[in-house]
Amino acid sequence: TMNTATPTEFEFSFLEEGFSARDIDDRDAFYVCDLGDVVKKHLRWMRALPRVTPFYAVKCNDSRAIVMTLASLGSGFDCASKTEIQLVQSLGVDPSRIIYANPCKQVSQIKYASAHGIQMMTFDSEVELMKVARCLCGVLLSICRLLSFH
Ligand SMILES: Cc1ncc(COP(=O)(O)O)c(C=O)c1O
Repeated sequence: TMNTATPTEFEFSFLEEGFSARDIDDRDAFYVCDLGDVVKKHLRWMRALPRVTPFYAVKCNDSRAIVMTLASLGSGFDCASKTEIQLVQSLGVDPSRIIYANPCKQVSQIKYASAHGIQMMTFDSEVELMKVARCLCGVLLSICRLLSFH
């Protein structure tokens, strides 16, 4: 749980207020993230839309700190790959809170998701729906995804 997690498990370091980029030794790219703000935004969503469960798209930012924070708040997860499913499940998230969501799924990954208890998948074309239906031998619990226009 969050209370027992250490920064090492989270793969993060705490920054003091007023830090500057020069205070960070590591020359690799890094995120600066306010986890309190993630919590606040999740709670604001739950208050405003209590009947709509958010499914966080792990591809946006797969930092363990963020995924663990949202997992402890009861959020769902939109996983686009086996790697993302493994990450979310390694943090103890129940498969009922995971959607395998990818516009062009690999057959091996459809089977992987199904074998790991995931019953929700997205599709927005007949071909994709038939692919999932064939892979799972007719056992299908899918959600249709509305196209978004950017
Ligand atoms: C079925 C499907 N279509 C399309 C997309 C891409 O959606 P967007 O263009 O909103 O990023 C996804 C992303 O998960 C998807 O699952």
